[in-house]
Amino acid sequence: MGYKEIYARYRQQILAGQLKPGDRVPAIRTLASELQVARKTVEAAYEILIGEGYFVSQGAKGTRVNPELILPETTGKTAVPAPPVSALIQRESKGELRLGIPALDAFPHKKWLLISGKAARSLRADEMILPPVMGYQPLREAIASYLNISRGLNCQPEQIFITSGYRANLRLILAVLAQPGDKVLFEDPGYFFGQKLLKRIAPNLHYVPVDRQGMDVDYLLRYHADARFAIVTPTHHSPLAVTLSLPRKHQLLEWAQYNDSWIIEDDYDGEFHYTRKVIPALKSLDVHDRVIYTGTFSKTMMPAMRVGYLVMPKETIARFSELGEILETGMSLLPQKILAQFLSEGHFYRHIKKMRTLYQQRRRMMLDAMQACFPDVFDFELTDGGMHIVAFLARGTQDTALAEIWQRHQLRVLPLSGWYMQTQKRYGLVIGYTNIRSLDQARELLQRTVLETRALLD
Ligand SMILES: Cc1ncc(COP(=O)(O)O)c(C=O)c1O
Repeated sequence: MGYKEIYARYRQQILAGQLKPGDRVPAIRTLASELQVARKTVEAAYEILIGEGYFVSQGAKGTRVNPELILPETTGKTAVPAPPVSALIQRESKGELRLGIPALDAFPHKKWLLISGKAARSLRADEMILPPVMGYQPLREAIASYLNISRGLNCQPEQIFITSGYRANLRLILAVLAQPGDKVLFEDPGYFFGQKLLKRIAPNLHYVPVDRQGMDVDYLLRYHADARFAIVTPTHHSPLAVTLSLPRKHQLLEWAQYNDSWIIEDDYDGEFHYTRKVIPALKSLDVHDRVIYTGTFSKTMMPAMRVGYLVMPKETIARFSELGEILETGMSLLPQKILAQFLSEGHFYRHIKKMRTLYQQRRRMMLDAMQACFPDVFDFELTDGGMHIVAFLARGTQDTALAEIWQRHQLRVLPLSGWYMQTQKRYGLVIGYTNIRSLDQARELLQRTVLETRALLD
């Protein structure tokens, strides 16, 4: 390798933004030995880079990319292509307006701490060995009781399988019940991470459109009546937040019963319904036990806890148990003990009740702020629940570019079109409002993007 190539590599790294002003570069001796070239070769490359202002030499402190280097705008633009939607939908934890995160400022820290201490102190020697595969019995009991009272189910603790959340639920259900080649149906638009996982683990995956009444069950019956699994978000569709209508719920249940198919109900935020009474889960209407209900503590407590659960139809418990023993070792015991106590002492119910009122207020603030900052940019088709709003673009299709702008201002909204697969796309921003603390704060956040939003859409 010659000095020209070393020079070109560094220049390219800097122009592409991979090396930033102020970044340290290796000492000449180190790089020469790394590349197995003579020191003089590296020295010659560094000299040119210093001469052109890309590098500065700081004597004993080494060499760095020039901290005062200003890259031409156009260079950055050509070097870094627009991110795909999947890059916008990320696990980045900083930023505001994130989707589906509970109000972190309202987390009941004191109670949690108290109960955590008790749970840790009460850990018996026999509990320090492996936890039960299907979950800690008192937590299974507390979840069954909560679901029966609040979500209208009629399940036994023995039907509860505790997992690490939604994706673990899907993997386990398909591992236990699916035969190779089984047709799996998913909503379109549908939960991004669900789609991504299913594309990998369910090769015969198909999509069913969603309209204002939820999944289009007529479409399912017309084109995919032979499916073995239908995965739905009936209480609040993800992301449109519409509720599956009662006639469609009955149609779907009839289909599953007639075909011996399974409905996987993803009830991720069913607790949060505001203007009307809480809507009972689809599973509450399931007299033939064809629905596998799945839930999570990510929306009610916190996502980082990684505790979810599924309700096994009675006839499948033995199969789940058998494969569960092979695939799983059981979830970590301590969080389960804390949660069990939190539920059985009634704190969970009180917390959800408080959050319902809080989210309703925060949603109002967000809508008012959107109205004030963008009076004619977005349309809303407000539904009764959920933890996010969808702001549909009144004109145009540039929601990905718009989300990118908002994300640059640390507003982690997502482009609605990224949730669609085959159905005709709609365009807008999906906005989480649960962590907005005041109308002023909401306005300030949105204000960051007003000029650029207008410049893009006008
Ligand atoms: C549609 C949907 N289902 C399920 C979940 C829950 O995921 P998990 O339990 O893995 O945190 C989420 C969380 O964002 C979601 O949006």
